[in-house]
Amino acid sequence: MNVSSTVQRVCVRVLENRVLGGHLRSLVLEAPEVARRVLPGQFIQLDCHPSLTLLRPFSIMNADPERGTVEIFYQVVGMGTKAMATWSKDHETWILGPLGSHFTAPAPGEMALLVAGGVGLAPLRFLAHRLQMQQIPVTLLWGIEAEKIPFATVPAFGGVGVDVVENPLVLAQEAAMGIVTCLASVQKREGFFHGFVSDLMDRVLEVGTGLGVRSRLYVCGPTAMMAAVAGLAQKWALRGEVSLEGHMACGLGGCAGCAVPVTQGDGWRYVRSCTEGPVLPLDQVLWDVPMVHAGGCSTKRGT
Ligand SMILES: Cc1cc2nc3c(=O)[nH]c(=O)nc-3n(C[C@H](O)[C@H](O)[C@H](O)COP(=O)(O)OP(=O)(O)OC[C@H]3O[C@@H](n4cnc5c(N)ncnc54)[C@H](O)[C@@H]3O)c2cc1C
Ligand code: FES
Repeated sequence: MNVSSTVQRVCVRVLENRVLGGHLRSLVLEAPEVARRVLPGQFIQLDCHPSLTLLRPFSIMNADPERGTVEIFYQVVGMGTKAMATWSKDHETWILGPLGSHFTAPAPGEMALLVAGGVGLAPLRFLAHRLQMQQIPVTLLWGIEAEKIPFATVPAFGGVGVDVVENPLVLAQEAAMGIVTCLASVQKREGFFHGFVSDLMDRVLEVGTGLGVRSRLYVCGPTAMMAAVAGLAQKWALRGEVSLEGHMACGLGGCAGCAVPVTQGDGWRYVRSCTEGPVLPLDQVLWDVPMVHAGGCSTKRGT
């Protein structure tokens, strides 16, 4: 989990800004240097609008070094992302990155179990594709509540979902690559596991297929979901990594606005999630100690 040593301010051009349904969008940027260097789990700080003092952090969902592009999967929630949603092709802005730590590969012989919630899919999809390229077996579980599923799905003909869901649907792109996926929703939906994605993880490990003992766990999503998955990791004696997507301000280690509590010996300490994270060992994060919300550089969001 190395922290990038050189931070670059890079001018980027929008190639595509697609509505995926509801508040979810996909943004493809021309950024050849970042596409070449970025590793799964790392993020960029994006200038969303000249009137906003703070840049906004986003994980990379896809990097194509040959085309020189990176893709972000984002949800419109406030001023910055609302401004992003108005961008059309050839809009120019700038970013800092790639920033932060990245996921590490499973040990030889281990499989990868990826558990994502909502837009937390972004860094795990990138990781899934890179691990698959290294012939590491990947199972990706995704909890998604959006009314319209933002990515194409197809019926599953095999894989983990078949054991726990009737007529399961899987992500089409991942199915074509040989990555096993399974979807969860708390709403009753045809082809989905009914419940939280953490419940799906528990169920998948219960039905077995040797997944648990030999898997390394990778997690990203809302805090409550990650805390639930961390609890299950203890239950199933799984080790792994988590990508934290809480509030940030400077994104460069200068303000402590992103501090998260982690274990240290018998006690604990705060680390800056923008430089020591966002990827941290799952068993080190203390979910019951308050995480500091952006307030180091600026005490007010919307700046
Ligand atoms: C390392 C990292 C990676 C991220 N990757 C992604 C990604 O791939 N896709 C994506 O959609 N989002 C991602 N986020 C979250 C994203 O940065 C925020 O949604 C964005 O900054 C909101 O900016 P805004 O100006 O639209 O909202 P603001 O006007 O700043 O805030 C609007 C609302 O969103 C809430 N909010 C702001 N930031 C966060 C946050 N980090 N987490 C939860 N709630 C927040 C605020 O409390 C407020 O209620 C990531 C965050 C981090 C730290
Ligand atoms: S956001 Fe991490 S130190 Fe400023």
